[in-house]
Order: sequence, then structure tokens, then C-alpha cells
Amino acid sequence: MMETRILKVDPAMPDRETVLAAGRIIREGGLVAFPTETVYGLGGDALLSSASKKIYEAKGRPSDNPLIVHLGTKSVREMARYAAEIPEDAKKLAEALWPGPLTMVLPKRPEIPDATTGGLSTVGLRCPYPQAARRLIASSGTAIAAPSANLSGRPSPTTWQDVAEDMDGRIDAIITGARCRYGIESTVLDLTGSVPTILRPGWYPPYLIAHILGKDCVYDPALFAQPGEDYRPKAPGMKYKHYAPAAPVTILKGSFAQFCAYVDANKTDGTMALCFAGEEALLPVPAVAFGAEDDGAAQAAAIFSALREVDKRGAKAVFARFPQMDGVGLAVFNRLVRAAAFRVIDLGGAP
Ligand code: TXA
Ligand code: MG
Repeated sequence: MMETRILKVDPAMPDRETVLAAGRIIREGGLVAFPTETVYGLGGDALLSSASKKIYEAKGRPSDNPLIVHLGTKSVREMARYAAEIPEDAKKLAEALWPGPLTMVLPKRPEIPDATTGGLSTVGLRCPYPQAARRLIASSGTAIAAPSANLSGRPSPTTWQDVAEDMDGRIDAIITGARCRYGIESTVLDLTGSVPTILRPGWYPPYLIAHILGKDCVYDPALFAQPGEDYRPKAPGMKYKHYAPAAPVTILKGSFAQFCAYVDANKTDGTMALCFAGEEALLPVPAVAFGAEDDGAAQAAAIFSALREVDKRGAKAVFARFPQMDGVGLAVFNRLVRAAAFRVIDLGGAP
């Protein structure tokens, strides 16, 4: 066990001394968790194998799962330090959407060790939004490899307290900040093929990327397959059970009335529901809401803290409502279905 320092900063104006101290930890090969607009990241020097190995160790994460490399600015010069090729599409997207929740997969430069990319010849680059994140990267003088700052398999952290819950004693420091604005991880976009392909759905939908690029952008078909024998997603992180509370989660597809009836018929001691805002009081079991039914953005912002909350309340089994599969709702479903280890029951009726 090491002592984890909590570095309190004002999110709007992170103070220089603290950021410098945190940058020094990264430069010396240590680990610092920091706020981003999506989820909190667990950062280490992206150019240092030993730092990446420490990240895997702290998370208890399989080391074939590549880390996203975070940049302090959206300049092409900075991208060129880590990516071997920067296609026009990448420049356009950096200009339009960075800093922001987009990760672009590009051929990597040899300086990035295999330990950071899980042995892949590509690297995921992203420039995060919050000042504290970008100033930390700048003051570290390197790029920062950072997965979500949760123990492997647990819901991603959207507050610094969530990070402390999982990482206290396992990393050098946590930079505090506000609750993450978007609440689900970045869109991961592969730009190494002939068609820009989304490997992990996130805040930015394909039609926005297509609009900026003036060409098609597609989802990786593996995203919609159940993991099985020949399920080999290009984003290795997508194949693991993930984001899960301790209790088994089952998603129920159907109307609210069908949901209530099913939960009532199948409830036992410790059954809880993950429902849409406003439904809590109408359910036959204790419930935690994750945003309104027609509000994908609110669902994204709340889903991970709701998954942590059912754990805190000692749920033994969890039934969850089925999010709408459009826009950011698709990204919410992608996280929830992994938390549910792909258990979805169709109650029939209207879609
Ligand atoms: O919003 C985010 O992206 C957050 C914050 C901290 O920036 N980070 C994050 O990292 O979600 P992580 O490690 O939890 O998820 C990274 C995802 C995994 O699914 C991984 O397989 C994929 O991105 N990925 C990273 N590099 C890749 C690469 N070179 N090729 C394909 N997929 C890659
Ligand atoms: Mg993660």
C-alpha cells in the first residue's frame, strides 16, 4: 500500500503549484488520476513501459488492452510526436472536435512502447477538455497514457470520490475536479482503414463525424455481436465483461408496465431496479434512476454512478430499463449491456 495524495484544485482555475507537483510525479514514472470530461483517467507517462505496466497493475487489468494516449494540445505537431501518419481526416477532426471526447486510432510511432498499446501497431490519441487535464499533460512534458481510473471490471469513475474508492493506496495521487460532464468514455474512431470506423460508441455519433469529413463513417459490426468464439473486436477493451456492479444485472426490453410486472413477479430479497427518472416511486422494489427515458445525455451522465450506487445499497440482483438505441443512447446501451454481461430479456410488445 502506498499513500495516495489527494490534490484539491479549483476545476476552473487549477493552481500552478499543484499541477506542477502532479506533472513531476508523472515525469518520475508515477501514477496520477485526473478529471476529464468523460470519466476520470488513471495517468502515467505514455513513453515509459514501466509506467504503463504500473497502470495495468493498479487496475488489475489484462495487459493486451491498449491505453489511450492523451495530448495537451490539439496541434498537428503534438500528434506527430506519437502518430506515424496523420491523414487529412485526423487533422479535420482534431480541429473540429478537440479538445473533446474523441479518440482517434492511428499508426503509432516506435517511441510508444508495446506496453502502452498492448502490442498493437496503432495508438489511440485524444486531447481531453478540462484545464486540469491539459495543464497536467503540459507540465509532465510527455503524453499521458490513461485508461478509466476504476478497478478493472468496475463501473468507470465519474467523480474523484469514485476514484478514491477504487484506487486509494494503489496510485500516487488523485487530482480532484467536478463530476464528469459527459459521463461515458470517448468515441473511439479507427482512421487506419479505408472507411472511418467507430470501435467504441461515445458522445460523438457517426453522423457528426461523417458530416465533418464529408464521407461515410460506420460502426464496427463487431459492436453488435455477442462475444463468442469468433468475436474479435478491434478495440480489445470491448470484449471484456465490464462496468459491472457486484450483483448480476439483467436488462428488460419492453414498456414500463411490462417492466414493473416482470420485476414484481421475479423479485427476491435485495432485488433493485435501474430505471428512468420519475419511475422510482412506481416500482415494486428500491430503484436508482439513470436519466429520463427520452434524454440520452442525462442517461450517459448518470449511468456509471447509478451502477455504483446499487452496489453501495447492497443490491443482490438488478433489473434495468432498456435505453433508446439512437444517438448517445446507443453508447449508454453499449455500457449497460456489458455491465449485464449481455443478459437482455425481451418482454415483447411495442419496440
Ligand atoms: O474517455 C475516455 O476515453 C477515457 C478517458 C480517461 O480519457 N479513457 C478510457 O480508456 O476510456 P479505457 O482504457 O478505459 O478504454 C480505452 C478503449 C478500450 O476499449 C481500448 O481497447 C480502445 O480504447 N483502444 C485504445 N487504443 C486502441 C488502439 N490502438 N486500437 C484499438 N482500440 C484501442
Ligand atoms: Mg475503462
